[in-house]
Amino acid sequence: MPYGTLYGMIRVTGLGKRFGATPALDSLDLHVPEGQVHGLLGPNGAGKTTLVRILTTLLRPGAGQARVAGFDVVRQAADVRRHIGLVGQHAAVDELLTGRQNLAMFARLSHLPPRAATARADQLLDQFGLADAGRKPAKDYSGGMRRRLDLAAGLILAPPVLFLDEPTTGLDPRGRDQVWSAIRDLAGRGATILLTTQYLEEADRLADRISIIDGGRLAAAGTPAELKATIGGDRIEVVAASAADLAAVAALLGPYAHIDEEARRVSAPAPDRVAALTRAVRGLEEAAIAAEDIGVRRPTLDEVFLRLTERIT
Ligand SMILES: Nc1ncnc2c1ncn2[C@@H]1O[C@H](COP(=O)(O)OP(=O)(O)O)[C@@H](O)[C@H]1O
Ligand SMILES: [Mg+2]
Repeated sequence: MPYGTLYGMIRVTGLGKRFGATPALDSLDLHVPEGQVHGLLGPNGAGKTTLVRILTTLLRPGAGQARVAGFDVVRQAADVRRHIGLVGQHAAVDELLTGRQNLAMFARLSHLPPRAATARADQLLDQFGLADAGRKPAKDYSGGMRRRLDLAAGLILAPPVLFLDEPTTGLDPRGRDQVWSAIRDLAGRGATILLTTQYLEEADRLADRISIIDGGRLAAAGTPAELKATIGGDRIEVVAASAADLAAVAALLGPYAHIDEEARRVSAPAPDRVAALTRAVRGLEEAAIAAEDIGVRRPTLDEVFLRLTERIT
């Protein structure tokens, strides 16, 4: 049985790294089984790039161990490199060359013979929806096209493990959608992917499991659904038509109601969902309070993230 099936394609235990006095990573554990997309979610400075650099052998760990595709990132760095692809925040694309020429150049750098290099370039352009754009110089690409070219460049040798460091940062929604679909396509082909992101929605949409890190430490890990469940159940929300009614609405929703003045919204735990909704509607009617909106919803991943990284109280 291949290694990855048994032990996971990425296995990190007690990983630590300091830059001077700053701990960039602190006793981090991570396990990604073969074929999974793992989202590493964290704010700026959380340690995401540091982890990616260690796992791609560009940086030595200060403490702990990490194996990728079964190989130790320190003692078997060359073996690790043969099994990985890395798409970083800044790619080494030549602006003046066409997309096709860029990919062919990367393929040559990966030791493919000239003819095979061009064939691989064309295959990748096709796979990433860049067949037409392939003849244009990279400087004329949109953000989304450019990032897909970066992705393609990291995939010349179709490595089984891929590291994507903030692949959609700075893209507009259209470019982001294009990159998302390219990543889904890669996942569909069975690649094991570690994707770092600052965007909850991105992790929610693409990842099988998510690790939330903050200050180099693991704050939480689980499937998107598990993480949402960790901060509690459903909530009822009422948007009052008038700000003057907020306190009265809060009184109706019970002792745990929370008022958001700016949004004119009151929310409260609603474990009994429909019953809570019915009580609220009736109460509002009896008190003759006009509501602009009312509903019961799951907490969002945003709330989980903000709570865990203590950006809200
Ligand atoms: N080469 C370096 N020298 C000094 N400090 C660094 C270096 N690389 C990263 N750091 C620090 O380590 C922490 C984590 O950085 P990084 O891994 O880049 O975070 P992220 O990618 O999540 O934004 C930050 O405090 C950053 O300033
Ligand atoms: Mg980073």
